[in-house]
Amino acid sequence: MADKTTEKKVPVLKAQNLGIQFGGLKAVDDFNIEIGESELVGLIGPNGAGKTTVFNLITGVYKPTEGSFYLCGQRMNGKKTHQIVHAGIARTFQNIRLFKKMTVIDNVKAAMQEHLTYGLPQAIFRTPKYWREEADITKRAMELLDVVHLSGKENLEADNLPYGQQRRLEIARALATDMKLLLLDEPAAGMNPTETEELLEIIDYIRDTFKISVLLIEHDMSLVMKICERIQVLDFGTTIAAGTPAEVANNPRVIEAYLGKPRKEAAKDA
Ligand SMILES: Nc1ncnc2c1ncn2[C@@H]1O[C@H](COP(=O)(O)OP(=O)(O)OP(=O)(O)O)[C@@H](O)[C@H]1O
Ligand SMILES: [Mg+2]
Repeated sequence: MADKTTEKKVPVLKAQNLGIQFGGLKAVDDFNIEIGESELVGLIGPNGAGKTTVFNLITGVYKPTEGSFYLCGQRMNGKKTHQIVHAGIARTFQNIRLFKKMTVIDNVKAAMQEHLTYGLPQAIFRTPKYWREEADITKRAMELLDVVHLSGKENLEADNLPYGQQRRLEIARALATDMKLLLLDEPAAGMNPTETEELLEIIDYIRDTFKISVLLIEHDMSLVMKICERIQVLDFGTTIAAGTPAEVANNPRVIEAYLGKPRKEAAKDA
């Protein structure tokens, strides 16, 4: 398997001086990051720090006003969201986005649709190829539901799942696209400690099993500290610290940003 060309490790995600301005506000400024294969990196910072904007930049929702980003060495600037998803970046949303009135399994299958190879005539006339692929995606969707501990819930309406399970369904939908990088935007928001613990296990399992890299936005510091190898901290759109969980936790600027001296004073010092 080892190929000479793969020995030189190209990062899965690389962002260089990435930035965006909304009117006069630099929502993200000079953002740099490198994430290697199977690495789990945390992106943290106070409300409005620019975390979701980073996700929106690297999924093509916003066009960067500065800088570049690369997926496995391929420049992604200017690509449309669906092209970026196709290239291998998948995400979940801070505000859950599911087809509420569809069943759990159909939510996952809908996310897989773009990977089907049968055409419209095959779907209309229900050819053998259609049924084969339909059986395949059902099986695959069931496997993904198992990964996020939702087996047995496949025929429920998504809307009827408790909040924590809806978040896990979002992850199954993200996994339905063959991704190299998974972006999770506050996946533990609204979860109780038991659900959060279960989520941690799922994220770890996904990373190990699918060999994908994960960039995780999360407010719960104790959670991020537990599973991330490295953490990057944003405040007012700029990176104020990056390093191991221990380094970041002891960084005075991080403590200040979180525990807050008055925000205006903090901005002056930056
Ligand atoms: N489309 C937009 N137009 C104008 N301003 C925006 C837009 N999107 C984000 N912003 C601003 O950019 C800044 C960063 O917002 P962002 O949502 O990225 O923060 P965040 O770190 O994800 O915060 P939270 O923890 O609350 O989710 C905020 O000041 C926000 O108001
Ligand atoms: Mg956000």
